[in-house]
Amino acid sequence: VPFAAGFTGDAADFGLSRLRSEKYRGFVFATFNPEAPTLEEYLGPAASLIDRTVEMSPMGKVRLDAGWLKHRLRANWKMVVEGVVDGYHPDYVHTSLFRTVDYHFEAKGVESSTAPSPLARDWGGGHVEIDFAPTLKEQLAWFNVSPDRYPNYISAMKAAFGEQGAHERLIAGPSHALIFPNLLLAEMNIVIFEPIRVGETIQWNTPLLLDGVGEELNERIIRNGQAALGPGSFIIPDDAVMIERTQMAIEGRGRWIDLSRGLNRERVEDGIRVGVMYDDVAGRGFWRQHASLMAVSA
Ligand SMILES: [Fe+2]
Repeated sequence: VPFAAGFTGDAADFGLSRLRSEKYRGFVFATFNPEAPTLEEYLGPAASLIDRTVEMSPMGKVRLDAGWLKHRLRANWKMVVEGVVDGYHPDYVHTSLFRTVDYHFEAKGVESSTAPSPLARDWGGGHVEIDFAPTLKEQLAWFNVSPDRYPNYISAMKAAFGEQGAHERLIAGPSHALIFPNLLLAEMNIVIFEPIRVGETIQWNTPLLLDGVGEELNERIIRNGQAALGPGSFIIPDDAVMIERTQMAIEGRGRWIDLSRGLNRERVEDGIRVGVMYDDVAGRGFWRQHASLMAVSA
């Protein structure tokens, strides 16, 4: 693998002189591959996914020091990735959550031609995203609060990015994106996948805290993180069941899995494949990159 996200930028920490690391906006990526491209080349246009997340802070700086929750999943790491970039499952797997809190995006169904749908994008290189922005109309809707709840945050964003720049960022919210292979920008959480063995993965999760904002905002980010990431929460326990059952279903069976959903309506914009959230655009993007890396050249 050319690059993977990790926890330290200093190769000396590993005692491994062959490890090469580079940073982008504070995120550290490392590789053992001497022929890997530069990080800039590796990320390509998908660097903007990291920009979007980091620029939820008026200072363009985030912190990951609220503590990490770890979940051990009895599944291959690729099953875990597939589960978190799939936009088809939330309506079914997370029904209990959506019955409890207000939907923060409007899911009108894939066949509707008039209502906007969250989009799925394949940025190339295995970097993929689900983008809720097309369905969000109010500032901070992605945070499930009204715009007047955090006036100081909104003022700070305006001071940093201007009226229009702040407005766009506060409407769109942070990324939900996989930076291939193992970094998930999960809205206001950061997730890293650590493969342990073929059928076992540890999923590391931490709230994404923002620099340059009041602590009451970061408090809410931590509380939301607990509701989404904790062992008694809504999101990850449900995902874990889904992912582990998928693993059990395919284990030892060399059968094909159909990832063609929405292939007929996928389009290419500026070199980026785009479809709706309910299609397998992101899954295909991930597997395409994985297949290209695993292919043995003659
Ligand atoms: Fe999920």
